[in-house]
Amino acid sequence: MAWRRLLEVLLLALLAVSSFAHAGPRERLSLDQGWLFHLGDVATPPIKGHGASYNSAKAGSAQGAAATDFDDSAWRRLDLPHDWAVEGGFDANENISQGYRKRGIAWYRRYFQLPLADRGRHVELQFDAIATHSTVWVNGIVVNRNWSGYNGRNIDITPYLRYGEDVNNIAVRVDADAMEGWWYEGAGIYRHTWLVKRSAVHIATDGIHANPVSTDGKRWSLPVEIEVNSSGRAVRDAEVEVTLIDPTGKEVSSSRSKVRVPPLGTSTVKLQLAVQRPKLWTLQDPKLYRVRARLIAGQALDEAETTTGFRTIRFDADKGFFLNGLPVKLQGVCIHQDHAGVGVAVPEAIWAWRLRRLKDMGVNAIRFAHNAPAAEVLDLADRMGFLVMDENRNFNPSPDYLQQLTWLVKRDRNHPSVVLWSVFNEEPMQGTEVGYEMVRRMVHAVKALDATRPVTAAMNGGLFADINVSQAVDVVGFNYQIGEYDRFHKANPRVPLTSSEDTSAFMSRGEFKSDPARHLMASDDSEAAYWGNTHRQAWKAIAERPFIAGGFVWTGFDYRGEPTPFEWPSAGSVFGAMDLCGFAKTAFWLHRAQWVKLAEQPVVKIAPHWNWPGQEGQKQRVMVLSNAPRVRLLLNGQAVGEADVDPYEMVSFDVAYAPGKLEAVALQGGKEVARDVVETSGAPVRLLLTPDRTALAGDGLDAMPITVSALDTQNRPVPTANVKVRFELSGAASVIGVGNGDANSHESEKASERSLYNGLAQVILQSRRGGSGDVKLRALADGLQPAEITLAVHAAPTPPAVAAAEPVTQLLYWRISPAQAQQPDPNVQLADNDMNTWGWGEVPIKQKAESPAWRLYRTDLRLRADLNDGRARLVFRELAGKAQVWLAGVKLGEKTNAAPAELSVLLPQGATQRQLTVMVESDPAQPSGVSGKVVVQKP
Ligand code: GAL
Repeated sequence: MAWRRLLEVLLLALLAVSSFAHAGPRERLSLDQGWLFHLGDVATPPIKGHGASYNSAKAGSAQGAAATDFDDSAWRRLDLPHDWAVEGGFDANENISQGYRKRGIAWYRRYFQLPLADRGRHVELQFDAIATHSTVWVNGIVVNRNWSGYNGRNIDITPYLRYGEDVNNIAVRVDADAMEGWWYEGAGIYRHTWLVKRSAVHIATDGIHANPVSTDGKRWSLPVEIEVNSSGRAVRDAEVEVTLIDPTGKEVSSSRSKVRVPPLGTSTVKLQLAVQRPKLWTLQDPKLYRVRARLIAGQALDEAETTTGFRTIRFDADKGFFLNGLPVKLQGVCIHQDHAGVGVAVPEAIWAWRLRRLKDMGVNAIRFAHNAPAAEVLDLADRMGFLVMDENRNFNPSPDYLQQLTWLVKRDRNHPSVVLWSVFNEEPMQGTEVGYEMVRRMVHAVKALDATRPVTAAMNGGLFADINVSQAVDVVGFNYQIGEYDRFHKANPRVPLTSSEDTSAFMSRGEFKSDPARHLMASDDSEAAYWGNTHRQAWKAIAERPFIAGGFVWTGFDYRGEPTPFEWPSAGSVFGAMDLCGFAKTAFWLHRAQWVKLAEQPVVKIAPHWNWPGQEGQKQRVMVLSNAPRVRLLLNGQAVGEADVDPYEMVSFDVAYAPGKLEAVALQGGKEVARDVVETSGAPVRLLLTPDRTALAGDGLDAMPITVSALDTQNRPVPTANVKVRFELSGAASVIGVGNGDANSHESEKASERSLYNGLAQVILQSRRGGSGDVKLRALADGLQPAEITLAVHAAPTPPAVAAAEPVTQLLYWRISPAQAQQPDPNVQLADNDMNTWGWGEVPIKQKAESPAWRLYRTDLRLRADLNDGRARLVFRELAGKAQVWLAGVKLGEKTNAAPAELSVLLPQGATQRQLTVMVESDPAQPSGVSGKVVVQKP
C-alpha cells in the first residue's frame, strides 16, 4: 500500500507544479470576433423517455442551442459589440418605452481553442454587459445566469475547458423581452467580451482597491488592498509588490507583503503606499496615477494595474460640493447609453467624442442614468475630468440584486471621477419604512467596499414622510423637486443636497416653432414636461442656491424610447441638449453660455436660423446666448438691438424678418469679444462631409462620426435641407450606422443612405481590423453636387484576441458494455431505464489487457447539416483491438488487425441523430477500446 500512497503524493506534487508551470503575465484577450448569431429563440426539442431525461439532467448535456454539438452552420457570423434591436425596424405594436423596436430573444455561439500550455492556468470569461436576461453555457454546462443588462459578469470557466486540438464552445441565450428600464435598452451582447488567462494563483478581477485619502488635501496616504485568488491544488506562498506610478511614468513609491493563498481560496493583502505631494486630479488637469500590483513567487505569477487619482471631495450642507477644497457647482447632465446608428453598442471612440461634446457644452458632471456605464466610459471620465454620479439599476437589497450593486462599487471605486454612488432613481417606496430599510442595507453594502464616497438616492417624493429614504443616505438627490429645495433645506439644515435630475424640457433640433400635429417642439426653451422646467428655470433655481451642490439636466443627449409628450410615430425623446447624433440644439448653447466662463472662452450664439421665406416683415423672436455681459444684434449691418445679458435668462429680441445676415456681437466693456453669424441661405446645391478627424487607427475599434450637410451656391449651410443622401465607401472601414437626430424618423439606421434632418445627418465609420490605406467616402443626393472625403487608416496593432475556431464534431462521451466472452449483437438495445449495466466514459477509453472479450461502445452521432452530405468521414484516431463500426444498424467499416490504429469510415447521409456502436474484440495481451479521439471530418 505504501508505494501506492507514495505514488499519489508524487502525482499530487506533480499536479501542483504543473498548475504553476504556465505562471506569468496575464493575458486579457478580446473575444469580440467571430460569433454566430441567431435571431429568435431556438426551441429545445421536448425531452421524453427515461433515458433521455436522465441524460439531459447531467452536467455537460445542455440541450438545444446550448448543446456543444448543436448545428449552428446556418447562423449569421458577426463581431461584438452587437445590438440587434437597432438593426430592426419600428413597429407601432412594440413598446413605446423601448422606442417601438422589437427586442425579443436571440442566441450567440462561439468556438475557441486553448493551447496545451494553458492547462493549469486560471481562465475567466468576462461579459461587460448583455441586454437583458442571459444564460451562458460553456461546453454544455450552464455557467452563469444574469438578470441585469448593465452589470458585467466574470465567470471562472477553468474547470470546464479543453486544450490542444479540442474545441471549446460558448453558448449564450439572451432574453431581451425582459426589461429593466423605460427607455431604449438595446438587445444582445452590446459591450465587450474577454477571455482572461492568469496563473492559477492570481490577482482577482477588480481585485485592486487603491483610493488615496487625505484629510486636509496636503498629507496623503494610499491604502491598497489586493485580493489574491487561487484555482490551484496546493497552498501557495507568494509576495505582493505594489508600486505607485506617477503621471509621467515614474515609480514613486512601493511596498511589499507576503501572502499565503489556500487552494480555491482568496487572501487579501493590505498595504500602505507613502505619497509625497502628489499632483492632484482636477477637472482642468486630471492627473492620473497608476497602481501596479505584482504577485511574485520566485518568478512573476501575475501583474495587474489600476488607475487612481489624488483628489478630495466633500458635500457641504450649506455650500454644496468641494473638489480639492474648492467649491465646484455640479453642471451636470443625465445620459442614457445609446447613440445614433449603433444603438447601445457604442464604440469607445464614439463615447470619447460624446464626452468631448459635453465638455464643449461646459458640462463638468455626468449622471449615468439609471445604470452602470461601460468600464471604458469611466476611464474616459477620469482622463477628461468629469465628476460622475455612478448609479445602480435595481432597487433591491436581496442577494442577487445586491450583487449588482457590490459589483458596481468594486469595479468603479478607484475612479477619481466617481464622486457619488446612487442606489436608485425615483422609487415609489422612497417615503416608506420599507424603502428606508432597503436603502439602509444598500448603503451598508456600499460602505463596506468604499467608505470614501457619499451615497445618494434620486428622490422625486416622500421627502417629508416620517420615515423616508433621505434619512438613510449621505446626500439627498432631488428629481424635479424645485419647489421643495428651500423647505427641505430649512427642515434638514445639516443634510447635503443636490439636484439629481431636473429640467425635462423639449427641443426638436433645428425646429423653432412647436407644431404638435407634426410632433415638433420649438428649440427656444419654451417647452417642458409638466413635471419639469425649462432649462433656464431649472438652472436658475440651482445656481442661486449655494446649498444645492448642482444639477443634472435631463438629458445631455436625446435617446431612443420614451418619446415625450408624443407617441407613435415619434420613437425617441427630445429632452437632450443635443440630439441622438450629438448635434447641438439651442439648449447646448444656452448651457455653454451659462457654464463656460467668459475668461476661458467667450460664447455667443444666435437662435434660430435665418431662413423664413414668406415671413418678410414679420417679427421673429431671436435669442442670443452668451456669457458676455452685453450683446448687440445686427441685421444686414444695421443695429437692431443691444442689451445686457441675464446670465440665466440670456437675452431675446423681436426682429422684423428680412433675409440676409444676422449677427450677434458679444461685448465686454464695450469691446467685441465674440461674434456669431447666421445667414439666409438659398436652395441646397452641394453636399459637404465634415469628418471629426482625418485618420482612423486600423485596429477595428476606432470610429468617428462624419457630419453630412448641404450648402447653397455661396457655400452657406442650408439649415432647412432635408434631402436624402446616399453613401459610397471604399477602403478599410465600414459604415456602422447612420442617423440624423430626427426623433420622428423611421429610416433604417443600418443603411447606406440617410435623409438630412434640418440640414444635418451623421455617418459613423469604423476601421477594419488590420486595415490600412485610404478610405474614400462619397455622399450623393439627387440634383446636388456630391461630396467626397479621403481619410487615412493607419496600421495599428489590434488588441490581442482569441481566434474563433471552427466547430469540430467530436464524439466524446460513450456508454461501455461489460466485457463479454461471446460475440454480442452490436445492435442490442439497452433498456431505456438501465443506467447502470453499461458504464460511462470519455475518449480516450482504454481497457487494460483482459482475457479475450468483446465490448460494445455506444454513443449518439449528431451531424451538422454541412456534414450530413454522404461525404464526411468518421475518424477514429485510434482503435485498439479488432473492431466493427455500426451506425443505425448498418455496418460502416471494420478493423481486422488488433494492433492500435486509425480507422476512418464514410458517413452515409441520413437522420441527423443516429446510434453509433463500436464493437471491439480485445487482444488478450494488449489494452483495447476506443483509445483515441473520434471526430467527423469534411472530405
Ligand atoms: C424622470 C425619470 C427619467 C425620465 C424623465 C423624463 O422621472 O427619472 O428616467 O423618465 O423623468 O422626464
